[in-house]
Amino acid sequence: MDEQYGRELPSIPGVDPGVPNSARVWDYWLGGDEFYPADKAMADEVERLLPDIVDQARADRLFLRRVVEFFAGEAGLDQFLDIGTGLPTSNNTHEVAQRLRPEARVVYVDNDPLVLAHARALLAGTPQGEIAYLDADMHDPDRILELAGKTLDLDRPLAITMLGVVWHIVDDDEAVRVLGRLVERAAPGSHLAISHQTDEVTGRRARDAVEMWNRDASPKGVCRSKRQLEDLFAAVGLELLEPGVVSCNRWRPETADVLPAPVDQFGGVGRKP
Ligand SMILES: C[S@@+](CC[C@H](N)C(=O)[O-])C[C@H]1O[C@@H](n2cnc3c(N)ncnc32)[C@H](O)[C@@H]1O
Repeated sequence: MDEQYGRELPSIPGVDPGVPNSARVWDYWLGGDEFYPADKAMADEVERLLPDIVDQARADRLFLRRVVEFFAGEAGLDQFLDIGTGLPTSNNTHEVAQRLRPEARVVYVDNDPLVLAHARALLAGTPQGEIAYLDADMHDPDRILELAGKTLDLDRPLAITMLGVVWHIVDDDEAVRVLGRLVERAAPGSHLAISHQTDEVTGRRARDAVEMWNRDASPKGVCRSKRQLEDLFAAVGLELLEPGVVSCNRWRPETADVLPAPVDQFGGVGRKP
């Protein structure tokens, strides 16, 4: 164990330890130990420019929990498609969903070889439910749906989560194509949750951090404004649920008395009519 750099990671085919990467840097901010020195250096540099990044990462995971609880509870959904899963941490989608609905079926999708190497930790669910992991690229929604269809019934509503991953689709038309295809193929009553990097709160600092990320890390990303995210939900035919697109820690917070300070990770949930 290297105190400074966390656990020594074995070399994994397809992983370049010299290029900071989304799944590993995110894991570092969440307090995990699946990162290389280059990831840590980038993570620290981003944090210098954007001190709220760790709050963003934590707020995003709490958003995931509230959203999945909403899906499995109030929305009555029992089929989950989690695209851009990330490295296993606490309260993974299947754990939250199956706590409320032991019969829930969950399909995880990521294209990162290290996430694939840890997929086993995501597959241990309830005996009544079913969990699958797909090594697939979100830019290929048809392949994702075809493979997910082996576990999920695509004729029934889906709960789709794309948290911290749509910002990696830098082209707006491509974002509409990818999300649009998923929504088009999903049954009415399906829901899509997104969380996304913005510059609504910290402005220039967020843009500078993303610019630096795009110079040295992978995959590239883009900030989108609240308005752009609202337009994205509308463009793919989803009705935004209350409270709309907001700082993800303000989406249906557990206590609404005092709202937490906003962070530059905005989130929203849309429903297919
Ligand atoms: C910032 S992490 C977010 C992880 C998790 N969803 C969360 O909110 O904590 C982004 C994840 O998206 C994955 N990702 C990036 N581009 C992708 C792509 N084209 N297809 C599938 N997954 C992708 C990365 O490997 C990484 O695990």
